[in-house]
Amino acid sequence: PRKVILDMDPGVDDAIALCVALAEPEFDLLAVTATGGNVGPKQATLNVQTIIEQVDPARWPRIGAATPDQLLRTDARHLMGTDGFCGANFPVAELHNRHNSIKVLSDEIRGAAGEVTVIATGPLSNIASLLQAEPDLATEIGHLIILGGAVAGPGNITAAAEFNIYCDAESARQVFQSPVTKTLIPVDVSSQVMLGLDVLEKLKHSGSRTAQFLSKILPNAFRMQRQVLGLEALAVHDVVAVTAAMHPNLFTTEPLHGDVETAGELTHGATVFDRRIVTDSRPNMDVAVDVDADGVLRYILGRLEAGV
Ligand code: BDR
Ligand code: CA
Repeated sequence: PRKVILDMDPGVDDAIALCVALAEPEFDLLAVTATGGNVGPKQATLNVQTIIEQVDPARWPRIGAATPDQLLRTDARHLMGTDGFCGANFPVAELHNRHNSIKVLSDEIRGAAGEVTVIATGPLSNIASLLQAEPDLATEIGHLIILGGAVAGPGNITAAAEFNIYCDAESARQVFQSPVTKTLIPVDVSSQVMLGLDVLEKLKHSGSRTAQFLSKILPNAFRMQRQVLGLEALAVHDVVAVTAAMHPNLFTTEPLHGDVETAGELTHGATVFDRRIVTDSRPNMDVAVDVDADGVLRYILGRLEAGV
């Protein structure tokens, strides 16, 4: 099995991503580290805990707590409710003696240097802080897969910027510029994979813990997405990044130099890729430019139906 850490800001699509990761026998899930994003840092930490309590309490990977005073430019409560789970309000008690996400990332990456795939599906604050505190870890992370940015399309939180990058553009810029081996799944690729309402029927028949948990969130998530965005199917961005770790062959990638705008008035948090024919910049990441959306959807549905 592949050693994996998920760094996330749950959030509905982060929850689906973690459900798939928990149901993937080829993953050795070392830790799940929380960051604020869709909701504030405290709620994000509780939500990571909730998903694991509800879906796979026996496994209990290490949980990292988001930095309580983390500063973020926005959140997604308009789309996911104040609890991040569209009002499902799971009972959860805050854990004591929990380590900070940055400490958990550091321990686990050092413990298996060069072997760990980190999948980051929230703002990149934790990863940037980690690399700032311990720059040598940049070459100890086996692979960093980032869900964020936009390479071919518009932004989704401002006209120019994608949500995860916009929330903490300075951190994203540091991570982009770092020597970590990384793959970016931009939002124009992740939006090609949409979950239809038929997933609810499938989950009903499955009866697993995963299915029970998601059945408490997804109907409201479909409803809120319809009300706010006018979409009938559910965007599931983050789980597309998890799929990229498992089945990279479903993606077409290009080596590109990517950077993040941190000073622009209209473009703050926009990702910028150098696609000039003649350039002296060197690629610093692989960027997904196309995806076999049906293949990804089949994989996701298969894992969700199997469940835990
Ligand atoms: C990203 O924004 C968040 O709201 C989602 O969880 C996803 O990580 C997509 O732009
Ligand atoms: Ca997310």
